[in-house]
Amino acid sequence: MSSTIGLIGLGTMGKALARNIASKGFKVSVWNRTPETTTEYILKYGNEFLTAAENFEAFVEGLQLPRKIVLMLPDGAPTEEILRKLLPALDDGDCVMDGANALFRLTELHQKQLLEKGVHFLGTGVSGGEEGALHGPSLMPGGSHEAWQSFEPILMAIAAEDFNGKACAAYMGGGGAGHYVKMVHNGIEYAEMQALAEAYDLLRSIYQLKNEEIAQIFTQWKEGPLESFLIDMAVEVLKKQEEGKSLLELIVDKAGQKGTGTWTSQEALALGVPTPSLTGAVFARSLSAEKDTRTRLAPLLKTPKTVASLTLTDFTAHLEKALTLARLSHFTQGFALLQAAETEHHYGFPFVEIARVWQGGCIIRCALLKDIHAHYTPLLYDAAFAQELILENLQNLRTIVATASSQAIPLFALSGSLTHLDAYRRAELPANFIQGLRDRFGAHGFERKDKEGTFHSDWK
Ligand SMILES: NC(=O)c1ccc[n+]([C@@H]2O[C@H](COP(=O)([O-])OP(=O)(O)OC[C@H]3O[C@@H](n4cnc5c(N)ncnc54)[C@H](OP(=O)(O)O)[C@@H]3O)[C@@H](O)[C@H]2O)c1
Repeated sequence: MSSTIGLIGLGTMGKALARNIASKGFKVSVWNRTPETTTEYILKYGNEFLTAAENFEAFVEGLQLPRKIVLMLPDGAPTEEILRKLLPALDDGDCVMDGANALFRLTELHQKQLLEKGVHFLGTGVSGGEEGALHGPSLMPGGSHEAWQSFEPILMAIAAEDFNGKACAAYMGGGGAGHYVKMVHNGIEYAEMQALAEAYDLLRSIYQLKNEEIAQIFTQWKEGPLESFLIDMAVEVLKKQEEGKSLLELIVDKAGQKGTGTWTSQEALALGVPTPSLTGAVFARSLSAEKDTRTRLAPLLKTPKTVASLTLTDFTAHLEKALTLARLSHFTQGFALLQAAETEHHYGFPFVEIARVWQGGCIIRCALLKDIHAHYTPLLYDAAFAQELILENLQNLRTIVATASSQAIPLFALSGSLTHLDAYRRAELPANFIQGLRDRFGAHGFERKDKEGTFHSDWK
């Protein structure tokens, strides 16, 4: 009997996703470049719903028409290679879904290329890592509507559940919409991770807390407004022991990155959307990678000793509130970018649905998404719940940033959020001064408060 769906790429994600699909009663056929991986996988997990074909041709031939094929490959060359191999074997009406973290522009190119052969292409953001892929990811499909309709029953069945038990999957719009939303999701993820890392740094540097003690503080936070998947993960990381030592003490402080944070920042710059915390988090990872330079400069620039001016209880209370407000800022920056992208690309983003689809399965799932979903506004700071959060927690964020600054502890994300918030609270910014300078040296002109039009001053 032919299979309902085919999946190419038995890496971490592909293996888990195929098992998830099969567990929902859809017959899946898998193919992987290295055949030994396939053999081993089928031996371990194969059943009537999870099978493998003899070879690539048999894999394609063994799928129900019109075909549904999922690619779970690294983006770039591997995906291109498989598409080149796959395309000649496909027929009019077949549908291909790319589950990689692909750049949205490339997704749009693939959509065009495949459509020339009558094949529909769906670029789908998949979030949740291996566990999410196995038990329920958050799914952000976009692109061909025909392909969405074809994959919809399967994607709805395998997705995580939102706060009300609905599937965390929804059509994100045309073109590269799905991968765009996933890109912004990852941008927010960068900022969230950086803010937690900064909290850890403050506690260990100013209060000399051990990782186990920091884990206890984070565990208390899990029960409050900071409830989120990433804080659960943070507690596990802080507690993890290897060879009788805290794992964190063994890990080199150089953060890796695969590019989605940079793509988010490039888009934000291109569209003129301020995302200081999201972009700051990318800079923080880049600077962390300069380990040799930091090690060389640290004694030369005489890193000062830290002093605790607040009690630990007071400081952690400030920090919890600061992180709560920073999270609002991260989502505000991310959604503002999506709003600008809508104006630019006309994807048809379902903004309120995005706040729902991120409630389960994905890395940035958190309690705050309930309010964002219920009271969505294009700039989240406009919402009443957000204004309440700002008024309640802004002073705490300021205390944390001021303390860090006085102790020479760098805060890329938390200080970015404070500046972002402070700038939106100022009806008057010093941009008049910038305009004056631009007109003085470049005759760029300026608008005036008292007259309509554009003016130049006579500087002679
Ligand atoms: N890992 C995550 O948490 C996560 C989360 C969301 C999205 N994603 C995205 O999901 C995709 C897959 O990630 P992963 O973590 O599962 O990757 P992975 O574990 O590195 O697996 C890569 C898979 O791609 C295959 N492959 C690599 N180069 C190939 C080529 N040139 N031709 C054919 N097959 C090739 C590999 O086959 P072989 O066995 O032959 O090497 C393997 O099956 C990536 O785009 C990633 O960005 C990952």
